[in-house]
Order: sequence, then C-alpha cells, then structure tokens
Amino acid sequence: MNIMKAKKFTRRQVIATTSAGFIGTMINLPFRSFGINSNRQLKKLAVNGGEKTHQGSWPKWPYWDQSAEPGILEMFRTGRWWRGDGEYVSEFEKKYAALMGAKRCLATASGTTALTTALGVLGVDAGDEVLVSPYTFIASYNAIFVHKALPVFVDSDPETFLMDPKKIEGKITDRTVAILPVHIYGLPVDMDSVNKVARGHNLKVVEDACQAWLAEYRGKRTGTLGDLGCFSFQNSKHLPAGEGGAILGNDDAVMDRCHSYHNCGRPYGGMKAEKGYPSRGYNYRMQQSQALILMSQMKRFENDNDIRLSNALYLDKKLKEIPGIVPYKLADGATRAVYHLYPFRYIKEMFNNVTKEKFLRALSAEGIPCSSGYGKQNKDGLFEEAFSSRGYKRLFSEARLKQWRDENILPGNDQLSDQAVTFSQSLLLGSKADMDDIVNAITKIYENRETLI
Ligand SMILES: Cc1ncc(COP(=O)(O)O)c(C=O)c1O
Repeated sequence: MNIMKAKKFTRRQVIATTSAGFIGTMINLPFRSFGINSNRQLKKLAVNGGEKTHQGSWPKWPYWDQSAEPGILEMFRTGRWWRGDGEYVSEFEKKYAALMGAKRCLATASGTTALTTALGVLGVDAGDEVLVSPYTFIASYNAIFVHKALPVFVDSDPETFLMDPKKIEGKITDRTVAILPVHIYGLPVDMDSVNKVARGHNLKVVEDACQAWLAEYRGKRTGTLGDLGCFSFQNSKHLPAGEGGAILGNDDAVMDRCHSYHNCGRPYGGMKAEKGYPSRGYNYRMQQSQALILMSQMKRFENDNDIRLSNALYLDKKLKEIPGIVPYKLADGATRAVYHLYPFRYIKEMFNNVTKEKFLRALSAEGIPCSSGYGKQNKDGLFEEAFSSRGYKRLFSEARLKQWRDENILPGNDQLSDQAVTFSQSLLLGSKADMDDIVNAITKIYENRETLI
C-alpha cells in the first residue's frame, strides 16, 4: 500500500468514531499522509516475519534501593517487625500525609483493606448500596461485597475511561449510602461533580486512588477530595512495597475510627491494649518492613512521575495523529494524571476492521508490550455467585436483584472494554527514543493494516 494513501483525521473526527454512525462517513474522507515517519518506506510487520521496531529492552519494575538495606536488616535483627513495636509505620504515615496534602494517613496491609476499612467506618452495612465505577480492578467491587452491600455500576465515559458523573443520579435508590469513584490508571475523576451529587443525597464519598498517587484535580491531590481516599502500594504500583495500602482523611474522629477498625477494634492510641474493645475491627495492619521499603521508594517517586508525565504528553501528541488511535481525555477539572497505565482506544474500523486482539499481537511482536485493559466485568459470574448466596437473598429482594440485572446495561463501559489498549507505567520510564518506537510501531501497523486481515 502506498503511504500517501494513509488517511488523516483531526482528533475531533477520530473521537467522533465513538458513535458508530460516524464511522461510515469517515471511511469516505480523502486519503492524506500522517505520522512522524510519513516518508519512510513501508516495512513488513514483525508479526508477519519482518524486523521488530523496538530492539532494546524496557525499564524493569520495581527498582531496589540498596541504601535501604542497613535499616531494614537492623529492624529484622532486633525483631521489631510489627507496628506495635516500632516507629516506621507511623513515620511513613506522617510523610505520606504531608506529601499528599492530607491531615492524616493510616497505613494498611493493602489497598483492598484500605477500601474495606474506609467503607466500613463511613457506615456501609449489609443491605446497603454503593455506586461504583465498572472500569476498575476487581478489588473496588470486592471491598463492597465484604460488607454484604450491593455494588451498583455508574456507566463509564469511554473518552475519559472514568465514571460518567452525569449518570450517577439515575442510579441512586433509598438504600444508596456511598459513591466509590475510581481514578483508574491515575486519571482523576471529575470530583466536583461527584461531591455535588453526594452532598445533594447525603452520601459518603470514598475515592479509590489505588492507582492515583500524586494525580491532581484542580491542583489538589486525588485521595484528598472525598470523605476518605484509598491507595495501594502493591508491587506493580508507582510506590511499591510488595503489598501495602493507605487511607487519607482530614476528619480526626473518622481517622481515629479507621485506626481502630484496622487494629482489631482497639481504641485509637492503644496499639497493644488488651482491655476494652469498643467496636468491631480486624487486623489490617501494615508491617514495619513495608514502611521502610515505602520510605526508600519515596525518594524516587516524584521524579519518576515527572518522567512518566513528560513521556505520556509526548505520546498524546504523536498518537492522536494516527487514524483510529484515540488517547484518553482528561475529565473536567483534572490537572495532572499519573499513568499507572497509559491508555488509548483502538478504533478497529479505522484499521480495516483488524480485531483488537490481532492489533495487540502485532504491537507486541514489534517489541512494544501492551494489554487490553479491563474486560466487561459487570457481566462476570461474581455477581450471580454473590446474589445466589443465602446472605444476599436475605438482604435484597427478588425485585431489587431483577432491577439490578435489568439496569446492568453499560454501553459506555462495553465500548471502552472493546476499544481500550494500555501500556504499563514502566514503559513510560523509557527514553524519548523509546516513545518514538511506540509511535513508529503503531504507525507501521496502521500502514500495513491490510496485511493483518
Ligand atoms: C483500582 C484499584 N483498586 C483497588 C486495588 C486493590 O489494591 P491491593 O492490590 O493493594 O489490595 C487495586 C490494586 O491493584 C487497584 O488497582
């Protein structure tokens, strides 16, 4: 195929392909050239036996900081492994709260236990309903299931990859007690809109910021914008410790209760107190070793995020020039994203209907690791498994569960799941030449799309 036959569309036109009706119109647009290498000779795709675009390796994750070793070894040798015997978890909490601009931080064993604690302390109980983003890691739903409450999905906006705030109100019932917006991939949700609906209906807001450390909305850090914000420090995360999590909050009484809840129900302040357990609670504590690793990782955390941001903005600029490649759009009010994954949508109609699976295979063969984002999890078996349990049958009427099934139609999320493609955060720590390889590989696939059918 001649390179001059490649089609050029504006970003607005490509975005318009989200509505299927526009696609037919676009197919008839005139052929023009595009991309950063538009004069280059066509090369055979690696998946078809050609040379791959990216020959080198990609940054590995996580990085180990050797300077942390003496402190960690000393802590292990003295046997002060749990937070009741040491200062490191509290020290980390102070540092993390200060960095994020929150009054208080509670460190937890994981992001899941942070979410479970936040929802429990804010009053989510058996038989309640919680509005949640469908396009997320499964733990966002599971934290609701732990409380024997009903996760109710607010459809995604395929352009932002996030909960569509315009669709929240329609999902509220007399049992709704909270909203759990997810800043997925580190893309900030439009929190003013979420908080406005929440205030109007007396609902609590727990931000799932498990992928959004240092992201900003109207200049404030995500995780500080609702009643409570939750984070994950699992190994793939920007601030990794194997496992780990945190809750941020500004209300002392609520944060005291979170502390108590995560510490077997002991009153706040009594780490080892054996007498008096005024509330139910669990053991969701962070270990000393996790806190030490986190504090060592914090040394590079902000700089890494700056590199990811710079590379993501570069990709935004280059990728939107390729027909059928639509980078995420920031939600209203979002001022900084942090790219736990770099997401874009692949519009197969612009690639001669080459399926996303074939596109991903071709891109991987070019030396660019990629994946397809979250599936249509709202249709996975876990909901029917929960609803058929004795507990859920007692808590929710047949009529309510039928209504849930009838309303479990999420066209925005279906479209997003069909079209999403992601690069992991560690790719964004590469050089500008690495980013050019990503752009060149996708351009090469576009130019050779007819050979993939
Ligand atoms: C969006 C989201 N929510 C919740 C979690 C749960 O965190 P953890 O794995 O630390 O329990 C994760 C972790 O991957 C996540 O990405």
